[in-house]
Amino acid sequence: MRQLVMLGLAGTLAAADATPTFNHDIAPILYQNCATCHRPGEVAPFSLLTYQDAAKRAKQIATVTHLRFMPPWKAEPGYGSFQNERRLTDAQIALIADWAANGAQEGDPAEKPTPPVFTEGWQAGQPDKVFTLAQKYSLPGDGPDQYRCFVIPMNLDHDVYVKSFEFRPGNRRIVHHAIVFSDPNGAARKLAGNGNSYSCFGGPGFGPVNMVAGWAPGGSPSVAPKGMEVVVTKGTDLVLQIHYHPSGKAEDDQSSLGMIFGDAPTVGRGMVFINSRAIHIPAGDDHYAVKTGVTIPQDVEALAITPHAHYLCKDMKIDAHLPDGSVTHLIWIKDWDFNWQGQYCFAQPVKLPKGTRVELEYTYDNSSANVRNPSHPPVAVHWGEQTTDEMAVAFLSVKLASIADQETFRRQIGLEFINEFLAQADDLNDFPPEISPQARARLRMAISLFDRNHDGKLDDEERKTLMDFLRARAQ
Ligand code: HEC
Repeated sequence: MRQLVMLGLAGTLAAADATPTFNHDIAPILYQNCATCHRPGEVAPFSLLTYQDAAKRAKQIATVTHLRFMPPWKAEPGYGSFQNERRLTDAQIALIADWAANGAQEGDPAEKPTPPVFTEGWQAGQPDKVFTLAQKYSLPGDGPDQYRCFVIPMNLDHDVYVKSFEFRPGNRRIVHHAIVFSDPNGAARKLAGNGNSYSCFGGPGFGPVNMVAGWAPGGSPSVAPKGMEVVVTKGTDLVLQIHYHPSGKAEDDQSSLGMIFGDAPTVGRGMVFINSRAIHIPAGDDHYAVKTGVTIPQDVEALAITPHAHYLCKDMKIDAHLPDGSVTHLIWIKDWDFNWQGQYCFAQPVKLPKGTRVELEYTYDNSSANVRNPSHPPVAVHWGEQTTDEMAVAFLSVKLASIADQETFRRQIGLEFINEFLAQADDLNDFPPEISPQARARLRMAISLFDRNHDGKLDDEERKTLMDFLRARAQ
């Protein structure tokens, strides 16, 4: 009706065009931005490929796009710019609203775009090696989400260089996301005991954590640019962590991981691990902040960032404070959702000169008003690996000036990690798993040497003297 009035008023063809239709306006948006997940067999609860599918949910689609709840994309615009950003433009959102408000019309069938074609099978090409879960993993229809770590015994007799990791969910109805870690020390085999998998939440259950690839619905395979292949050394196992979400009925999964091998990397890479274990959130506190940071020891370019916390975290902000006083925003997530975590690859590498301080600030809501709070009533929450614990972590993947810098960078960044530990730890003997047993012994000795007043703690001055000494040796 309203449309007829509009037509009558304007009386032109242009006005007729202005009433959006599925075929002319909406299908292209849905095919481009929603179909990766909203198609049969994919993670979303319904398909949005046909007019009927979309029209009966027109109002709901208008609401979730207006709220920017869909497509799921957590990074705030203006704070870091990323590859494969999943955001509708304001104009697209307005068009959907207009369509829903005007009777969600189908329009001229001749204008209907061809539905997108999705490559079945391996997206990055035929893998050189495929690992498939040895047995089907069975998930009951209801109950809590499960996090399962599957050991991938690589049994390598020489180092390999992985160009692409491609995770293929066996059963998309229950596989929510997957992360691949590397395990050089056989820790995962031990955790798996006689089987080949074990329960794990957050991390793989051992340290130091080294994440090599990740997959989330709607994502593409991790393909390394030439020269940046991932080295998997002889003796290393991979660990595939899968997050399962029950679908309402009992289901099985047998997922696979494919790898394509390439040449030895020629570009220096490093991983900056930012982590705080000084987390003590009182029950009921709805605005608990955790801050930590790390100083970048060489000129680097940041390639990707992966923020990580559990259910209570609400807000995550990571900024780089450059030596010239300027600030580069790396990422800001205002409504963290554990279920939509992932790696964010910068659209352009972000230059972080030596001396840049990367600062992380996460905020947690441990009140009963937080629907994601796993404890009712709320309880005091501390650092830990369980669902009911919290974490404040970010992985920053960086490119170094040259491959020859890798070893020095690894040592230097390890020291920066120790510096943060010394500055924040409640107990200097409670070492995080990232500090190896050998390093612990040396560190204990160094702490006792530099603790001039022998109070078992290092004040800022003592810590600085110790760090200057260690940094000079790590050049
Ligand atoms: C990356 C995967 C993905 C993409 C892309 C995506 N969705 Fe979704 N969508 C989901 C999942 C999964 C759910 C189920 C709810 C959840 O897990 O958050 C969902 C739920 C919904 C719902 C139901 C919300 C509710 O309140 O129950 C609507 C409507 C919706 N999506 C519309 C869209 C539209 C429109 C687009 C594109 C503009 C889109 N989605 C893009 C994965 C996706």
